[in-house]
Amino acid sequence: MTTRRLVLARSAALLSATSAGLLTPSFAQSGKVRIGLMLPYTGTFAPLGIACDNGVRLALQEVGNKLGGREVEFFKVDDESEPSKGVENATKLVQRDKVDVLIGTVHSGVQMGIHKVARETGVLSIIPNAGMHAATRTLCAPNVFRTSFTNSQPTRALGKVMMDKGHKKAVWITWKYAAGDEAGEGFKEGYLAAGGTIVKELGLPFPNVEFQALLTEIAALKPDAVACFFAGPSGAKFMKDFAAAGLKGKIALYGSGFLTEGVLEAAGPAADGVMTTLHYSDSLDTPRNKSFRLEYAKAFKMQPDVYAVQGYDTGLLLVQGANAVKGDLSKKPELYKAMEGAVIDSPRGKWTMSKSHNPVQDIYLRVAEKGENKVIGVAAKGLSDPGTGCRMG
Ligand code: PHB
Repeated sequence: MTTRRLVLARSAALLSATSAGLLTPSFAQSGKVRIGLMLPYTGTFAPLGIACDNGVRLALQEVGNKLGGREVEFFKVDDESEPSKGVENATKLVQRDKVDVLIGTVHSGVQMGIHKVARETGVLSIIPNAGMHAATRTLCAPNVFRTSFTNSQPTRALGKVMMDKGHKKAVWITWKYAAGDEAGEGFKEGYLAAGGTIVKELGLPFPNVEFQALLTEIAALKPDAVACFFAGPSGAKFMKDFAAAGLKGKIALYGSGFLTEGVLEAAGPAADGVMTTLHYSDSLDTPRNKSFRLEYAKAFKMQPDVYAVQGYDTGLLLVQGANAVKGDLSKKPELYKAMEGAVIDSPRGKWTMSKSHNPVQDIYLRVAEKGENKVIGVAAKGLSDPGTGCRMG
C-alpha cells in the first residue's frame, strides 16, 4: 500500500469506529472539558459580558478549575450583541472549537442564534443572562438551561409596587427588541392587574441612547410615573438625562432592576430614589452574598453585579451537573437530571430550576441610595415563569 492509501485506510477505519460509538466516549471524555463563552466583550453590553465571564471563572476557580475531575479549557467568542452574527458565532464554538458546553449570552436577539444552534446540534447550552421567553417556553429544550430570568420575570411585580405608592398612570419606555418588549409584557400584566393605566408606550431601537425627544414627550404627558427597561451604561445615561430634563422629583422613576446594575457610580445622584425590582441586590445582607462579593472584588478588582452573579451561578450549575456524571458530559440523561434537580446556593439566595429550565426565584424590591441598591422588601416570593408552550417535565 502506498503511504497515501495507508493513511486513507486508517482514517476510514477510525471514522467507522468513531461513528459506531466505539471511540467516542473515551476519546471525547478523557481530555479537558471544553467550555465555550459567547458573550459581548465589545459594545454597549461589554461590561455585562465581562461580568458574566468573570462569574463563570470564579465558580470554577473555587473547585480548582476541574469539572468532575477533568480540567477545563475556555474558548471565547465576542458576539458584539449583534443578532445577525449569532448563528455563525455559535457555530464557530460548536463546530470549530468542539465545545462540550456553550455558555452565552447577554442579548436576547443573539440568543435566538445560539438557541437555534443548540437545538440543532444538541450541545449543552447554559444561558447566563438573555431572557428571551421562547428559550424556556415554546422552544424549550432538554439541553438548554437558564441561570438568569425570563424577560418578564423581574418586571411582573413592579406594577403592584407602583400602585401601592399611588402611581396610577404610567408611561412605559424601553429599547424596542425582544428584551424590552417582553419586560414590557411583564410590567403591563402586573400593572393592569393592580388597576394601573399605561398612558403611553415609548421605544427606541437598541442600542440607541438619544432619549431627548422621548423625555420631552413624557414631560408633556405628565404621568404619575415612568417605568422602563434599559441596561448597562445606557441605564446611567437614561437616569441622568431624566434628571437633566427636569423630570426627577416630579415624575417617579421605576425600572426593571437592570437599570441600576453596575452603573450607580456613573449615574451619581440621578439614580437616588429610583425603585426597581430584580432577583439580586448588592446589599443583600447574607453571609453567602458577602463572601461572594469579597471574593469577586479580590479576584477582579471590581464590584460584582447581577451579571456577575448569573455567571457565577452558571459555573455552580455546571459543577453540580459535571460532578454527578464524574466529568463524563456525554452521559446526557444523567447530566440533565442532575442539572434539573440542582439547588443553587447563589449570592441572590437559593434557587431551583423550573420544569422548563428557568430559575424559580425571589424578586427583590430595591431603592437606589448613595451608590447602593438597597433592598426594601421582597416583591415576589419564589417566582416561576409560566413556561407557556413548553412540553418538558
Ligand atoms: C436581553 O437582551 O435579554 C437582556 C439584556 C440585558 C439585560 C437583560 C436582558 O440586562
